[in-house]
Amino acid sequence: MAGGVVLISSSIVRPGNSNQSGRTKIHLTPFDLSLLQFDYPQRGLLFPKPDQDFHLISRLKASLSLALEIYFPFAGRLVKTDNLEDNTVSFFIDCDGSGARLNHAEAKSISVSDLLQPNGSVPDFIKHFFPADDLKSSDGVTEPLLVIQVTEMKDGVFIGYCYNHMVADGVSMWRFLHTWSKICSSGLASEHQPLALKGWFLDGIDYPIHIPVSDAKRPSPTSGELSAVPITKEKVFHFTKKNISELKAKANSEVGSSDMTISSLQAVAAHMWRSIIRHSGLRREGETHCKVVVDLRQRLNPPLENNCFGNMISTAPATTTVEELLDHGLGWAALQINKFVRSLTNESLKSFAEDWVSNVKNLKSGLGSRMVGDTLVVASSPRFDVYNNDFGWGKPIAVRSGPGNSINGKLVLFQGVEEGSVDVQTTVWSHVLVKLLADVEFTEHVTIA
Ligand SMILES: *[C@@H]1O[C@H](CO)[C@@H](O)[C@H](O)[C@H]1NC(C)=O
Ligand SMILES: *[C@@H]1O[C@H](CO)[C@@H](O)[C@H](O)[C@H]1NC(C)=O
Ligand SMILES: *[C@@H]1O[C@H](CO)[C@@H](O)[C@H](O)[C@H]1NC(C)=O
Ligand SMILES: *[C@@H]1O[C@H](CO)[C@@H](O)[C@H](O)[C@H]1NC(C)=O
Repeated sequence: MAGGVVLISSSIVRPGNSNQSGRTKIHLTPFDLSLLQFDYPQRGLLFPKPDQDFHLISRLKASLSLALEIYFPFAGRLVKTDNLEDNTVSFFIDCDGSGARLNHAEAKSISVSDLLQPNGSVPDFIKHFFPADDLKSSDGVTEPLLVIQVTEMKDGVFIGYCYNHMVADGVSMWRFLHTWSKICSSGLASEHQPLALKGWFLDGIDYPIHIPVSDAKRPSPTSGELSAVPITKEKVFHFTKKNISELKAKANSEVGSSDMTISSLQAVAAHMWRSIIRHSGLRREGETHCKVVVDLRQRLNPPLENNCFGNMISTAPATTTVEELLDHGLGWAALQINKFVRSLTNESLKSFAEDWVSNVKNLKSGLGSRMVGDTLVVASSPRFDVYNNDFGWGKPIAVRSGPGNSINGKLVLFQGVEEGSVDVQTTVWSHVLVKLLADVEFTEHVTIA
């Protein structure tokens, strides 16, 4: 490792009760498989430093083992089978109790204030606080589906983790984290409902789904492509409760909606979309996309249980031209996002799934082109409960996402420390960031400490 971060140990943590006879297979839907070439999402929580006698690593490992008994899919592996008859491959998750990985690292010279810069800049060295850089979902065949790195800093602890997006989404991941932290702080695995798996909800679609061999191959960018990608920078923009309510009111008044059709999140996303695209140097006639990650549980009919475990997201884009986006106002942009979100109905999800199965496509493009910079991706949600995850020595101080899936226009939304506020961890090309910070139309609606 580098950047002042030293790896001390790395071990596999298995669920306490690896009872193989109840071994579950999880079949993958088109919504899962379209993430086959996505990087493992990386998130991390920053904590104060526990007392010496807390026995940090042994307690985290013991509680992780208990948490994996409940959340056993994280301890499984992806299995790939060859379908020789039609030159395709299929995948499923085998909950085989192989275990998750936990790395212990030290960054003795790095303090909390180095990581949390007052102006919201995210230092480049933060990438060393996240484990397993460059894992893609398809790597889950040999790699754990959950990898954790506990980094002891000078005056804090950072718990960074990454997970295979085909096994879980943010809703499921944060629930797991909450359970793990409760077990760690109490020392016991309290009574827990058995995990409700999402099950197969796509009547009329057979599993396992067949994917042409060539589409399932891991893409490897040429070194020429890599060196041509502009440098990205990350910054956390803070929206206070008041900033958000003003943006929401502005967006709704522009579309003439008295019943607040546009949500807070759509107003914030639209503000970021217009501002970033304004400075990305794209041709006015070119297309631009805003992909908001949407939880599908309540969009199906009948709906799935709110807390059912698995990956239940979709990310189809709101699309327009750069010209349309910039010539219209905030309300119009928010309405495009709103329309797309509302268009995700049981019916449209069913046709998406059917089309996908008959014509597997776009597996390699991942989140969008790293070169073009025409796409905004809005991931994670301020609804996820970040600050209530106390492992036994204090609540988190901050939350950050890692460098995976980085494109110009990656936004990761988290709840802010004060109630009702939102932090938007934003990845943009560095020349775009400079222009963004100088743009009054952008900065008047955010708080840059
Ligand atoms: C293992 O799980 C199966 C089915 O869930 C159960 O019938 C069996 O008693 C379990 N065995 C042990 C040793 O816990
Ligand atoms: C933010 O502050 C850090 C020091 O804390 C400084 O190195 C960095 O240049 C600042 N970034 C911006 C964009 O002002
Ligand atoms: C919702 O879609 C599923 C298939 O994806 C279908 O089985 C179900 O009947 C649909 N529900 C309604 C109410 O149409
Ligand atoms: C956003 O919040 C900051 C800090 O509270 C405030 O200074 C600024 O005026 C707010 N802007 C709007 C448009 O609400």
